[in-house]
Amino acid sequence: MNIVMLSPGFPFEQAYFTRALAQTGARVIGVGDQPAAMLPPEAQQHLAHYEHVSLRDEEAVLAALRGLSRHVSIDRVECLWEPYVELAARIREHLELPGMTLEQATWFRDKEAMKQVLDAAGIRTPRHASARAGAEVWEAAERIGFPLIVKPIAGAGSADTYRVDSPEQLAEVQAMIRHVPLLSVEEFIDGQEFTYDTVCGDGDVLFENVSWYLPRPLEQRSHEWISPVTLSLRDTSEPRLAGGLAMGRAVLKALNFTDGFTHMEWYLKADGEAVFGEIGARPPGARTVDVMNYATDNDLFRTWAQAITTGTAPAVTHKFNAASMFKRAQGTGRISRVEGLDRLMRELGEHVCVLDLLPVGAPRRDWRATLLSDGMIIYRHPDLEEVLRIGDRFARELQLYAE
Ligand SMILES: Nc1ncnc2c1ncn2[C@@H]1O[C@H](COP(=O)(O)OP(=O)(O)OP(=O)(O)O)[C@@H](O)[C@H]1O
Ligand SMILES: [Mg+2]
Repeated sequence: MNIVMLSPGFPFEQAYFTRALAQTGARVIGVGDQPAAMLPPEAQQHLAHYEHVSLRDEEAVLAALRGLSRHVSIDRVECLWEPYVELAARIREHLELPGMTLEQATWFRDKEAMKQVLDAAGIRTPRHASARAGAEVWEAAERIGFPLIVKPIAGAGSADTYRVDSPEQLAEVQAMIRHVPLLSVEEFIDGQEFTYDTVCGDGDVLFENVSWYLPRPLEQRSHEWISPVTLSLRDTSEPRLAGGLAMGRAVLKALNFTDGFTHMEWYLKADGEAVFGEIGARPPGARTVDVMNYATDNDLFRTWAQAITTGTAPAVTHKFNAASMFKRAQGTGRISRVEGLDRLMRELGEHVCVLDLLPVGAPRRDWRATLLSDGMIIYRHPDLEEVLRIGDRFARELQLYAE
């Protein structure tokens, strides 16, 4: 089987998917922006061939693939990186290959089209409208009511996303979003936030995961002092999750998703109602695949590769609650010292799977630009109360300073 993988080495995690795909016996042909020499070794060693083309230049990509397809028969085109999910679909249509169509890919990228399809299927979405900055946003606000959320129609990382409580605030936000061509205006849903992530093969859900965001992503990205947590839950039979799980499965059906990774976000209101957030045809980012691997003692890179090449994969079950926590230093400039780490590792080290903090002397990362911030840890415990307690201690007692 010959499989084209778009962006096989960037972001870094893609290299693990590339390697897993090659390990199933498939020949993997990479197409990406990185010069071949810059590919991570995991990708370099497992690609049968690499085309260095700008992925933003659709014509160049199609031309390269037309050329390739004269020498090898291409069976599939895969892309696990959000910005090029639609490009992969366009290539499939162009080469008449099976897999997600361009229309389907649009449902996973355009937050208005996505919700229209889901509304038609009876899924509970926030009241919503698409609008251009200016008069259309005012009209949408009038129909939807305050509080509301304004965000880019194809956004990521909570960029240019604002909660708006009043007309006065809307006027201020309008000034800040003038550069965004098309916006999504939504009813603000108060509640907790979860994910529903899957690996599918041949139309079956082969792996399911629910992660709990602590706190809600918009809050994570609004306050620097917060240590954001993504917690992959061991026990998805908790009653509070039932509505979200049922919704997740219904969403995949409505979007006719059959093969690959998905990452959905949903809200749980205080009254127990589950409300749809968004969905991507890709794995969750920020090392959450690693978190799920530690939660299941499994290799989901391999599960994905098996799923898309054979339509099936061995069952994967959660053995732990596993969580990632991102740390942000206090101060500006270079990391100057780390406090609390020795004590925490002495007392809780057996539960820590990954410790990846910036070293003393390294310049701070921009916490607004990257969730990775100044470092991260992954920890796990079979018991939910315990994993929350461990997280609480790392949030309070592990402090990085910069000057
Ligand atoms: N209708 C809504 N009601 C309440 N909160 C919302 C709503 N829409 C967005 N948010 C908040 O803003 C965050 C970012 O929104 P959303 O997930 O739609 O955009 P994104 O930028 O694609 O996300 P990501 O950070 O997952 O890339 C959500 O996680 C949530 O905290
Ligand atoms: Mg989101």
